[in-house]
Formats: sequence, structure tokens, C-alpha cells
Amino acid sequence: MDDWRSYDAIAAAYDRIWAPRLETVARYLLALSAPAESARLLDVGTGTGALLRGLGEELRKLRSATGCDLSFSMLRHARRHLPELRPIVADATQLPFRGGTFDLVTANCVLSHLDDYRCALTEVVRVLARPGVFAASCWGPASDVFAAAWKESLDAGVGEGAAQRATETVAPWESHFSSPPNLKAALIDAGFDCVRVEVRPLSIGQSVDEYLADRQLTAGGRFARHVLGAVEWPRFLERADAEFRRRFGERVSFDRPIVLAVATLD
Ligand SMILES: C[S@@+](CC[C@H](N)C(=O)[O-])C[C@H]1O[C@@H](n2cnc3c(N)ncnc32)[C@H](O)[C@@H]1O
Repeated sequence: MDDWRSYDAIAAAYDRIWAPRLETVARYLLALSAPAESARLLDVGTGTGALLRGLGEELRKLRSATGCDLSFSMLRHARRHLPELRPIVADATQLPFRGGTFDLVTANCVLSHLDDYRCALTEVVRVLARPGVFAASCWGPASDVFAAAWKESLDAGVGEGAAQRATETVAPWESHFSSPPNLKAALIDAGFDCVRVEVRPLSIGQSVDEYLADRQLTAGGRFARHVLGAVEWPRFLERADAEFRRRFGERVSFDRPIVLAVATLD
């Protein structure tokens, strides 16, 4: 049976529903880190390749583009979009590369997922050449009314706090890295010489159908689907759909902050 914690089971839906938004986040990050021509780039936790797709035509100017991820299925989708990508199934805490192999390492909405993020950052510092750049994005806090309503639905469906605890098993540092000072401190502790952090809002507008399809891909949504099973899950979605339409009408729109960091090694 598929593991609800893994991205393997949702790779196709992720690629369709989330990757376009992650590509926008990637463009924010790339605008700050400005990959040099002929750079050797490693994208950690590359998923279906949103960051590399965010490079557009610039991708061709790189000397090499490598993407690593734990999920083979996510990488398979990435490779379909990006024939130039070198996909590697690897854990961010044990990068299978020699020291000084890359000029730019990126991690687009990935750090929060890494149990031992300190070890992963040590690996990033090791595989970077000098000078080298690391660019990372993390989601800021979800403080909008729609996120609160989705949480209420989950609490009613699977028990108070259960989906939140499940989310913490998949992305244990999500709350920690939603804070810009925490992200900055982690990068300074890892040994980077200069760290710049900034926050940008990402505007999201969706129909209620799209919003609920989107929420089903979150760790909380995957957990609820797993717990509720084939009979109760559609009923849960029906109730959530009715509640969202009653409270918000046909559409939701909100801003979600993105925390962006660029760290350099001299
Ligand atoms: C939220 S997705 C982000 C994917 C991609 N960076 C993007 O912008 O769409 C998080 C990704 O991190 C991967 N991941 C989680 N833990 C990992 C680890 N320890 N090492 C490598 N990849 C990991 C997941 O498989 C998933 O593809």
C-alpha cells in the first residue's frame, strides 16, 4: 500500500496542481540568486523540477543541472519536462557527490521536510565550490481564513490536531522555517559567510474545487484520506466542499508569504 508520507503516490497530481505554483516561488528565488552562466547547479529535493523549469531559457546556459530527490516518481516527472536534467535518487543528508562539485545549490520548499536539516546543510556546504551560492525558499505561515477552515474540516474529520501531527512527521520544520530569523540562523550556523533573507507574498486565487484538490495533496490531506478510507473520504470532501461554498462562495483568494534566503561561501 502506498505510504501517505511519501511524494511517490501524489507525483502526477503534484506535477499538475502544485508545480506551477512552486515554479513561481522558484522564479522569486532565482531572481535573488542569479545563476551565473556555465554554473554547475544542484537542486536538492527537486521534485518534478519546478525550480529548473523556473529557469526557462537560462537553463541551457548552465554547464550542468542535477536534481536529487528521495522520490523516484517525482524525478520521473521532472525528467519528462527536462531532458537536460541529471536526476539522482538521493537523500539530502547524504549527497553522493564529491566536495566542491557545484557552484549553485538550490532547495525550493524542501528544508522544512528534512528531519536532520543541519546534516543536509553541512552536505550543501561540502558539495559547494568556493565561491558558491545556496538559495532556499520556505513557506511562511498560513494565517488566512481558508487555511483555518480547512484545518477545522480536518479536525472534525480525523480528530483534533491529528492532521497537524501528521504534517509534522512529513515536514517537521515547517513552522520553524516559516520564520525568517530561524532560516537565517540555520544558514549562519551551517557556516555560510553572508546570508540574505527576504519575504515576498505569493498571491493565490482558486475556485473552491481547485482549492480542495490542492489541499488533498498536503500531508494533512494525504493523512486524512489514508485514515478515512475509500468510503468516508469522499463524504469528508463533500462536507468540506459544502462548508467552503456556504462560507466563502465559489472562489478563494489569499496571499501566502514566501521566505527566501541566499547564502554565500567565499
Ligand atoms: C514540497 S516538495 C518540493 C519539490 C520541489 N523542490 C518543487 O519546487 O516543487 C518537497 C520534496 O522534497 C523531497 N524530499 C523530502 N525529504 C527529502 C530528503 N531527505 N532528501 C531528498 N529529497 C527529499 C520530497 O520527495 C519532495 O519531492
